[in-house]
Amino acid sequence: MSSTPKKTLTLTKKSSPADSSTPARQRSGARARQAQQMQRLRGDDTVAAPATPTATPAHASRSKAAAHTKTASRPTATPRPTAKKAPSGYASPRQAPKADAPKRHRIEGPKIQARFSAKRDDEFTVFAPCPMGLEEALATELSALGFAQVSQGRAGCHFVADWQGVQRANLYSRLATRILVQMSFARIQNEDELYELAYQTPWENWFGAEQTLRVDTSAIRSPFQSLQFANLRVKDAICDRLRDREGARPDIDTVRPDAKVHVFLNEDSATLYIDSSGESLFKRGWRHDKGDAPLRENLASGLLALADWDPNSPLIDPFCGSGTILIEAAWIALGTPPGMWRPFHFERLRHHDARAWQDLKDEARANIATEIEVPLIGSDLSPAAISAARSNLARAHLHPDTIRFEVNNALNVQPIASKGWIVTNPPYGERLDDTDDAFWSEWASHLKRNFAGWKVNVITSDLELPSKLRLKPNRRFPLYNGPLDCRLFNFEMVAASNR
Ligand SMILES: C[S@@+](CC[C@H](N)C(=O)[O-])C[C@H]1O[C@@H](n2cnc3c(N)ncnc32)[C@H](O)[C@@H]1O
Repeated sequence: MSSTPKKTLTLTKKSSPADSSTPARQRSGARARQAQQMQRLRGDDTVAAPATPTATPAHASRSKAAAHTKTASRPTATPRPTAKKAPSGYASPRQAPKADAPKRHRIEGPKIQARFSAKRDDEFTVFAPCPMGLEEALATELSALGFAQVSQGRAGCHFVADWQGVQRANLYSRLATRILVQMSFARIQNEDELYELAYQTPWENWFGAEQTLRVDTSAIRSPFQSLQFANLRVKDAICDRLRDREGARPDIDTVRPDAKVHVFLNEDSATLYIDSSGESLFKRGWRHDKGDAPLRENLASGLLALADWDPNSPLIDPFCGSGTILIEAAWIALGTPPGMWRPFHFERLRHHDARAWQDLKDEARANIATEIEVPLIGSDLSPAAISAARSNLARAHLHPDTIRFEVNNALNVQPIASKGWIVTNPPYGERLDDTDDAFWSEWASHLKRNFAGWKVNVITSDLELPSKLRLKPNRRFPLYNGPLDCRLFNFEMVAASNR
């Protein structure tokens, strides 16, 4: 979290709070599936058995410190017309329930005033980091999933959830990078107080000597001299507590730990989290072939959210590389939860209810559509990239016909319908050696000639791209692709562009 670039991002809000007095819109196909899935997850589906929503008012109070930052059938050539335009699967935020009195166990010691999450049936303050620039989209997603008290932070969102909600967030969030569950928080001034806070946190409810442990520390404006030392103090405190209480301490394993604790420090406080995810959530489990500079999966999903892609509409990625954007799109259209086929750290913690988790996954699996009709097309100049994309497609549990991948020059790609979306990540920055201004001008002419009626969305670190294309973007979203300061430019290709 501390490594994310420091930059203020402004996004214009698109969605409005749901109005319960308005009758539900009739939707069809992928859009309907998406809406139904969100409904189910919120627990207001009268047909299917709902996953338990975080329905009770949230008790946890937010710490200031945490403000840091199937088989698919062959697509048909013509898409089914979408009767009504609806927001694309990232439904409007609901009004969060008002905070009640804190349920945290408040311990007023001589040195620190701390708040703890003690038991599994507590509700937790959760922080979900995400790529910078996706905060608003993540807040919308989390609200649509039924979480309470969702608010945007720096490179992530806070919300409140019970333990099952923590699992649901891991299973269903397409945009979060991980799900950090707050265990304790205190105003602290020095490493001794940090030790005290970590020592007083009831870790034994979550792990013990039978688990291996890793502790990570990040900070923004922390006065501490050495984060390594702070990290060591927390590790010592956790191990001391477990040894004092249970007679044995966990071993440290930095490579493949069972339990991961994350410490976040700022100028005057510390927040201790359990990382419920383990490996970053953008690792969906399907990527082996990386291709050239692949996008992270949660960023790719974020592009589709910001582009407002309608899963009933055709989607083309003419610089598809290893196919990340299209594979994410296929999962969105099918309603495949992104965490369906990967392990999580919460499965390795004490008292993990494997049966309840299996039930949650079974319910999710039962709701995955078996086919999509919308055309998803990816092309790339590189045969190696297309071969990687096809392998990734197979590993993502998708039928080979779900996405058409082909070797082609972007300058020759033709539309497959009168309307649709292009969402793409062309080569840029250091990788631009074989492209130049003439290429962009040629691509722009090609788009103007052939793609009138299409919405073209391009993520690039080349902030001059719109002038090279001689196109005026409708919207621009500041985003980071790893360390690269990027924009997602949204161009509407209207017929007038032909002139
Ligand atoms: C930044 S990479 C895309 C990565 C992709 N988003 C992913 O997640 O794997 C850009 C891709 O554009 C391709 N490319 C470069 N010039 C092209 C052209 N003229 N037509 C089509 N593809 C091209 C490269 O082969 C490369 O795979």
